[in-house]
Amino acid sequence: MKYPWKTNLSALFLLYLSGAVRTQVNPGVCRFPLGMSGGQIQDEDISASSQWSDSTAAKYGRLDFEDGDGAWCPVITDEPDSLKEFLQIDLRSLHFITLVGTQGRHAGGIGNEFAQMYKITYSRDGSRWVPWKNRQGKEVIEGNRNAYDIVLKDLEPPIVARFVRFMPVIDHSMNVCMRVELYGCEWLDGLVSYNAPAGQLMILHDMPVYLNDSVYDGAMAYSVMTEGLGQLTDGMSGLDDFTQSHVYNVWPGYDYVGWTNESFPSGFVEIMFEFDRTRNFTTMKVHCNNMFSKWVKTFQKVVCYFRSESDWETTPISFSPVVDDVNPSARFVTVSLHNHMASAIKCQYHFADVWMMFSEITFQSDTAMYNTTLAPSKGPTRTGDNPTHKVDDSNTRILIGCLVAIIFILVAIIIIILWRQVWQKLLEKASRRMLDDELTASLSIQSETFTYNNNNHSSATSEQESNSTYERIFPLGPDYQEPSRLIRKLPEFTKASDEAGTSSSSASNTSPASAQDGVPHYAEADIVNLQGVTGGNTYAVPALTMDLLSGKDVAVEEFPRQLLTFKEKLGEGQFGEVHLCEAEGMQDFMDEDFISDISENQPMLVAVKMLRADANKNARSDFLKEIKIMSRLKDPNIIRLLAVCICSDPLCMITEYMENGDLNQFLSRHEPEGQIALLSNAPTVSCRNLHYIATQIASGMKYLSSLNFVHRDLATRNCLVGKKFTIKIADFGMSRNLYSGDYYRIQGRAVLPIRWMSWESILLGKFTTASDVWAYGVTLWETLTFCKEQPYSQLSDEQVIENTGEFFRDQKRQIYLPQPPICPDSVYKLMLSCWHRNAKERPSFQEIHRILLECQV
Ligand SMILES: *[C@@H]1O[C@H](CO)[C@@H](O)[C@H](O)[C@H]1NC(C)=O
Ligand SMILES: *[C@@H]1O[C@H](CO)[C@@H](O)[C@H](O)[C@H]1NC(C)=O
Ligand SMILES: *[C@@H]1O[C@H](CO)[C@@H](O)[C@H](O)[C@H]1NC(C)=O
Ligand SMILES: *[C@@H]1O[C@H](CO)[C@@H](O)[C@H](O)[C@H]1NC(C)=O
Repeated sequence: MKYPWKTNLSALFLLYLSGAVRTQVNPGVCRFPLGMSGGQIQDEDISASSQWSDSTAAKYGRLDFEDGDGAWCPVITDEPDSLKEFLQIDLRSLHFITLVGTQGRHAGGIGNEFAQMYKITYSRDGSRWVPWKNRQGKEVIEGNRNAYDIVLKDLEPPIVARFVRFMPVIDHSMNVCMRVELYGCEWLDGLVSYNAPAGQLMILHDMPVYLNDSVYDGAMAYSVMTEGLGQLTDGMSGLDDFTQSHVYNVWPGYDYVGWTNESFPSGFVEIMFEFDRTRNFTTMKVHCNNMFSKWVKTFQKVVCYFRSESDWETTPISFSPVVDDVNPSARFVTVSLHNHMASAIKCQYHFADVWMMFSEITFQSDTAMYNTTLAPSKGPTRTGDNPTHKVDDSNTRILIGCLVAIIFILVAIIIIILWRQVWQKLLEKASRRMLDDELTASLSIQSETFTYNNNNHSSATSEQESNSTYERIFPLGPDYQEPSRLIRKLPEFTKASDEAGTSSSSASNTSPASAQDGVPHYAEADIVNLQGVTGGNTYAVPALTMDLLSGKDVAVEEFPRQLLTFKEKLGEGQFGEVHLCEAEGMQDFMDEDFISDISENQPMLVAVKMLRADANKNARSDFLKEIKIMSRLKDPNIIRLLAVCICSDPLCMITEYMENGDLNQFLSRHEPEGQIALLSNAPTVSCRNLHYIATQIASGMKYLSSLNFVHRDLATRNCLVGKKFTIKIADFGMSRNLYSGDYYRIQGRAVLPIRWMSWESILLGKFTTASDVWAYGVTLWETLTFCKEQPYSQLSDEQVIENTGEFFRDQKRQIYLPQPPICPDSVYKLMLSCWHRNAKERPSFQEIHRILLECQV
């Protein structure tokens, strides 16, 4: 659980304690959203290097907006230059930017793209672009971990810029989309650059003190800094002791830029300041160190020249502060500029001692003032109605304001805590009750509407939570269910708790099928992917189911290896092999609840998955996990794990095998009933039996999906055929050479059965029960074409992926598999529904199973 109000609280403290700061920018307060989410930034000011489609154009890159397809997504090419793409925002005037927010593409659960890393470049004039670096010199910013949460990153140092570009770091492992916001305030100083002599090195009691301008973003040549801004404008004043710094882990002297009089025979340091336009200047404030015991003092005199239009005025102004030998604290020295109009100022600061050190120089012009308070909690998303606070010199008012604010915050915190607790309790209670009634399905629907409302900011409860970006609480979307809720949906859980001795009588009967209704999705991160023996993918299992399974004993017995007789190699892969074997006396090793049609004392046909003895540790642990998972799968249409050999190497997993081999080979040997079959004298499969086959696959998948297992590779090649057209779903992955043509190696990614995969699996790497439904549609198509050809056989692999893009763009240019000649209209309609673009509109396996049962053959 997050406690977002903490940051809010400290921000408020900061802002009230620094209430006196108003004529120069205060990075602690200057954190207003600049209008991506609030809409003040116009669409035409948001541009990008490229866009995937019109619906993912730059203008959709607004934080917290779901318009278009939910975000800006660039075209990803295969070019190695991973920093070519950018989203650019033109703020129309210079801004001081202290914070950036990023978010991925969620699009109500369809999207799952985000930038894990990005860089920022900025420009003040639109032509010279500067890459942003943090104070340690690092350019890459860590971005999002999921598609929905907003991640805010402080920019240290802050940026002064008009144009900002977000550049996702693209490594081709996933597609990238972004929604962004900039936070800051208008740069009232108007300063575009300062040119100054480079800061120098001081040796203080043998300790080097580096007084260079470490964040200067301009050029540096011959010890002169030109065309940039840096530490003198980063909003951070140095400490009294210049060898110390606010910033963690930096060198002594970090906060200051300093010079010694030995390098300046003229006795002064000249700094030139360029501004965005001609301004009416009132004051300049210079933050100086005054540690006179270390030969550092404020300047003794300053002489400033003004340039308006193109000429320097001949009459400078001159000012001499009182030289202070008493108080060693650093301070702002205010220099009145007497309402001079200028677009550039050149000042000569005269030494008063051996050293002169500045940490900030600010300019006040045109009577504009920085806000001293954060926008009230109406939210930074709506800055328009927040009045600019007038300068208020009364300390008591500030104090009262401070107290009121603290009381208000405390009350708010208490309310939020209470409210959350009550809500949580209610939810828990509700879910428990519903589970007892075997109504888990309605729970998922309820939670869906709940979170949906939150996304739209429309429910009363959510408004309380989401009134500011800083304290917005991001609900778990329906696709990312809370573990505790998910766990209750799993029959495994009830079993586990039964075994643990907690006698929950009512729940133990929960039938697996009842838990399956809404189509559950998981973010990739929530899924444990097992390599599988052969390097192919096996079932994807919710991480949490894995947790449940881990630590529990394997529910199958050890089988004596010597009773296996090798018959034929079914396949092999990176980590092992799959053999077809005969097993003697297997019947003694099987659960009594296993109904087998094998007669006693007959050797039984089994598939043996074997891990190579030299397989690495990960492969071994995955293999053991796979055993645990497989041992829990008990359904007449899923291949059963019969026994294991894990007491010695090589580790083996013995599963059922069916005498008629896999469905693909089986159907290729057969013909539909009809003329051709009669003429060729080939064996036939009747429509009735085809229907029976399809129904069994649906039933097996219904079971898997009820456990939230995602198969990821459903196809006829992974279905085994037994006596009397019985079907069991297996998972050989891509271990068999026979089917290597069904898999495609996507650059830098796994080998994937792209012709069976949903568009979102291919493009977004998202595997869900809904993508299994898609694969089911393809499997059904294969079945009804008797596996005589590959799906989309007329398309190359690249064209298949191209077609996937058409599904994504949805401009009616996508190609569907055609209706097989023997396929009834109603079944083709079912197939088409499995290939619905919107995963949520695809039928569930429960529905598919029901439809198939209902439709007459
Ligand atoms: C002051 O705050 C308002 C709204 O809160 C904002 O629109 C304005 O830009 C801010 N002014 C400065 C100088 O940051
Ligand atoms: C400033 O000095 C430090 C310490 O020597 C050095 O690491 C850093 O690169 C310098 N920065 C610039 C901009 O010269
Ligand atoms: C500059 O501002 C001051 C104070 O607002 C004003 O009195 C003065 O006329 C302005 N100067 C010019 C040249 O506009
Ligand atoms: C630097 O300043 C110190 C103290 O004011 C003075 O004694 C010294 O002569 C100055 N050095 C130069 C080169 O001006």
